[in-house]
Amino acid sequence: MSQSLSGEQQYFASQHHIVGLSGASIRALMEQRLGYSIDRAQQFLDFQQSINRDLLRHPVISANTYTAWFAKGGFNGRQAREFVVQFSVFSNLFLIAQLKKTINADTLEGMRASKEILANEIGVVFKALDARSSPVDVTGESPEADLLAAEGTVEGGTFHFRAAHFEWLLRMASALDLTFSQVGKRHHGLAATLFFCDELARLYGSEDYMTSQAASYAVENWAAAGFWEQLISGFTAYNSQAAKKLPLAFFTYHAKIEAQHAAHTQEELEELYFTRDIDEVRFIDCGREMLNGVEAFWQGLDTQRKMDGSDDVRG
Ligand SMILES: [Fe+2]
Repeated sequence: MSQSLSGEQQYFASQHHIVGLSGASIRALMEQRLGYSIDRAQQFLDFQQSINRDLLRHPVISANTYTAWFAKGGFNGRQAREFVVQFSVFSNLFLIAQLKKTINADTLEGMRASKEILANEIGVVFKALDARSSPVDVTGESPEADLLAAEGTVEGGTFHFRAAHFEWLLRMASALDLTFSQVGKRHHGLAATLFFCDELARLYGSEDYMTSQAASYAVENWAAAGFWEQLISGFTAYNSQAAKKLPLAFFTYHAKIEAQHAAHTQEELEELYFTRDIDEVRFIDCGREMLNGVEAFWQGLDTQRKMDGSDDVRG
């Protein structure tokens, strides 16, 4: 991040031994904004080290056996269906966690930020902030995700049933001969998938602000760590050999969204640290609990595919 700092900001950071802070925080420190002090900045950098060591090295971020296997594309049709069913349960039940996060937001800005995600999830297309962005096409005829803005605001955006993330996944499911009644419901979920979804509702959607922030930070870092790309590379390899190509919009769109989120996650954590009291140990514990939930989901899929055997047969 230091490369985005101006010369003056870099000098300020090195003078005060706070190299590593985001440009937004350095600016706030230079402007002596409320809550921003050099002492606090140095405490933050210590906290960041603890986060890096005790939270971000979680195996679901650094060594996800299932997605590493999936990325190679050596799965058969049945394994692809099993994956899509579990992902559809997560995608559908995620709405509950996101709605709870919206309801429990402790500021209007926080509520709106959560509502942006919720509305986009159910089919409100982002109105691109950048006028040069690609036009929106939700007809389903085109490779949809490439034509939808992955950044912008739902304010003034248009709702389309077909733009709901769940419906994109449904279209992939149908290419795998799965019907609406075979995906998305709790009763389709493995115990591990339901544990993950329930942990999301409990932690990410928590009434307690710090719990939801810690869970959110953990989820964002997991999502930005590359699993979307692993899934896309697996499906791309699968499509190269399958007679019936799967539409990948759901996955390519999410990969694009996450690349945008990743840039903001760090700034959000720093802002939280400077403007609120944080129980550092609890923050890391909550984040780890959330990642344990995420890990359960992937382990459930990994156990299921290993029980299936016959990795080399396309069905
Ligand atoms: Fe989504």
